[in-house]
Amino acid sequence: MLQSESDNRNDVLRIAVLASGRGSNFEALCRGDTAPGIVTLLISDRPEATALKRASDLGVEALYMYPGNYRTRFGLDEEKQWADLMLERGIELVCLAGLMRILKGPLLEAFAGRIMNIHPSLLPSFPGLHSQRQALDYGVKLSGCTVHYVDFRTDTGSVILQRAVPVKDDDTEDSLAARILKQEHIAYSEAVKLHCSGVLEADGRRILRKDK
Ligand code: GAR
Repeated sequence: MLQSESDNRNDVLRIAVLASGRGSNFEALCRGDTAPGIVTLLISDRPEATALKRASDLGVEALYMYPGNYRTRFGLDEEKQWADLMLERGIELVCLAGLMRILKGPLLEAFAGRIMNIHPSLLPSFPGLHSQRQALDYGVKLSGCTVHYVDFRTDTGSVILQRAVPVKDDDTEDSLAARILKQEHIAYSEAVKLHCSGVLEADGRRILRKDK
């Protein structure tokens, strides 16, 4: 479904993607099957982010928004402005896709249980930055990606789904990252579709499927 076709429909669930850089996961979400969810908005904290160009090319509303005067988190006022704009646009699910900033308050409050992130490791292993390098340095034989709900700490929210890849003896950080990224593009759409279809339920930390 094209975004223009969805604009006046009530049976779709509007998704915003927040990205700081390349935007390949954003594009995978736009091209993947996330029904009844549809990506209608991309916001970046960096005006030069390739994700913004990808959004324009795909006909998705693309906005740069000032994140505040910090390097790795939002200013409180700015985080509220991002949340307010998404609420005004009728956004019901927020997907972080390479957003290099920690959420602290207003966004988590406005979209409690409705923010997802994708991370390039099998959490809880290797949270934070440079996860692929952490995996190589540790010497694991399997790595992968995790889609999880976002809570108030870094990469600790409930896991929705994971996909594993082998770590090969001759892997570099780049070759491992590329193998994981292919799985990220599959995993993210799958997780978003499950959320939007209403088949996920929480049992403590565990996210279960009601349809199984
Ligand atoms: C992806 O590998 C994503 O998992 C990672 O940033 C990359 C963004 O790529 N996210 C994190 O490391 C978050 N902790 P993309 O801009 O091409 O989607």
